[in-house]
Amino acid sequence: MKMLIPAYGKNESFARNAVAGFAVECAPTVSEINDIKTAVSEAVTNAVVHAYEEERAENMIEICADIDSGNTLTVSVRDFGCGIEDVAAAREPFFTTKPGEERSGMGFTMIETFMDDMTVDSAPGKGTTVVMRKRIGGDAGTRRNA
Ligand SMILES: Nc1ncnc2c1ncn2[C@@H]1O[C@H](COP(=O)(O)OP(=O)(O)O)[C@@H](O)[C@H]1O
Ligand SMILES: [Mg+2]
Repeated sequence: MKMLIPAYGKNESFARNAVAGFAVECAPTVSEINDIKTAVSEAVTNAVVHAYEEERAENMIEICADIDSGNTLTVSVRDFGCGIEDVAAAREPFFTTKPGEERSGMGFTMIETFMDDMTVDSAPGKGTTVVMRKRIGGDAGTRRNA
């Protein structure tokens, strides 16, 4: 699955629900769906809030999703915005370049917590790609699509 959406705050819920809908193919539990939604929401919100200075129709976010081996979901969230100077620092808990607004600096930490792994590829002036993976079926809750 590949989709391109303008980096508007109001598109965040569509993005997270679209990826959750895609993931239903792997029969996730409600808890796994919520983990995926939270992680996608954080990555998309970062693209909206940090990557671009203002909401413009040409500022795009590209979201791809794939399923490997029937049960491993991979989601990438890419923007073409300002990029991150120091990725290692940005990934630290409580690190934020927008203190005071409602940012907690916990976005990357939440993605790492709710998914199995996360890579962040970024270059100043070029943009950022966050790739996250989660194996579905790791816990024994109620299947949505069993
Ligand atoms: N897509 C992005 N483009 C540019 N900078 C980003 C992006 N995502 C994250 N960052 C940088 O990484 C920092 C940490 O992100 P995060 O952990 O989500 O915390 P928060 O969003 O609350 O600041 C942000 O403050 C910002 O400086
Ligand atoms: Mg964030």
